[in-house]
Amino acid sequence: MAQIIEKRELAPGCKLFRVEAPLIAAKAQPGQFVVLRIEETGEKIPLTIAQADPGNGLISIIFQEVGKTTLRLGELGVGDEILDIVGPLGHPTLIDNYGTVVAIGGGIGVAPVYPIISALKKQENYIISIVGARNKNYLILEEEVNEASHQLLITTDDGSYGRHGFVTDELRRLVEGGLQPDLVIAIGPLVMMRAVCAFTKKHQLKTLVSLNPIMVDGTGMCGSCRVTVGGHTRFVCVDGPEFDGHQVDFEELKMRQAIYHDEEEQATERYKQSKLSCGRC
Ligand SMILES: Cc1cc2nc3c(=O)[nH]c(=O)nc-3n(C[C@H](O)[C@H](O)[C@H](O)COP(=O)(O)OP(=O)(O)OC[C@H]3O[C@@H](n4cnc5c(N)ncnc54)[C@H](O)[C@@H]3O)c2cc1C
Ligand code: FES
Repeated sequence: MAQIIEKRELAPGCKLFRVEAPLIAAKAQPGQFVVLRIEETGEKIPLTIAQADPGNGLISIIFQEVGKTTLRLGELGVGDEILDIVGPLGHPTLIDNYGTVVAIGGGIGVAPVYPIISALKKQENYIISIVGARNKNYLILEEEVNEASHQLLITTDDGSYGRHGFVTDELRRLVEGGLQPDLVIAIGPLVMMRAVCAFTKKHQLKTLVSLNPIMVDGTGMCGSCRVTVGGHTRFVCVDGPEFDGHQVDFEELKMRQAIYHDEEEQATERYKQSKLSCGRC
């Protein structure tokens, strides 16, 4: 059991929880994630450890409500308990002195980017962050990312804040302006990571992506998170979640992410209906 000790709404449908998990907090490193389950009959879902506070035995998770489990999670409040949290899982990001790092976070992808750039900045890297959101209301962690960066560039799809356009537009502007980053990190929706990698491959810029396939056990046993990287089968939970973006078969990943689309939609719909009928009684 892990008790929620703080809850904040960062954007519409996007929540931050600080949760008591001393053993995970003691070991967590940037780039790692947890798998949690809310109740006995619930599914397990992976979420990135957005921050670890070993002194107080707490970890932060940030999640977007996109389906049944994340909606149900978002209904929990301070004092409630999450049935089980397993972690830290996955390989940590290799924190090294690369030089100039461009870190790109799209939507909820900003949450995993934040601990990585915080650690990279401490290693004397020059950090340029590019953060993208649908509109101003959906932008998260602006202050935190700004503090962990030497430069912060913001884009919104509708132009309501920062520059109008996509994160890839800002990356193109930087590179075409003469910047040669030593490392690009892109975390966010699959289409965004694929677009970033298509651009950086052309310019031969080393690029890391953090993949988000469907996961079940998170321990390399079930095979649900299988991806193809450089022509080889890899399991994101134990071999990743970060990979060389130029080697990832994004088409296959996209297809596999949608395998349970109908079932997910039905489960979400049934859950929303059950909430409505409960409200009527
Ligand atoms: C290593 C890893 C770290 C992650 N970290 C975070 C995080 O920090 N914050 C966060 O909000 N989400 C994160 N995700 C995604 C998160 O696990 C899914 O959003 C969640 O499992 C959806 O469950 P659900 O039952 O609410 O929605 P479902 O009903 O299962 O799915 C709803 C919709 O969400 C999409 N979806 C389902 N599973 C995933 C997935 N794994 N990745 C992306 N989209 C998905 C599908 O398009 C689906 O139609 C991470 C995923 C991985 C693999
Ligand atoms: S989630 Fe089961 S093998 Fe990775």
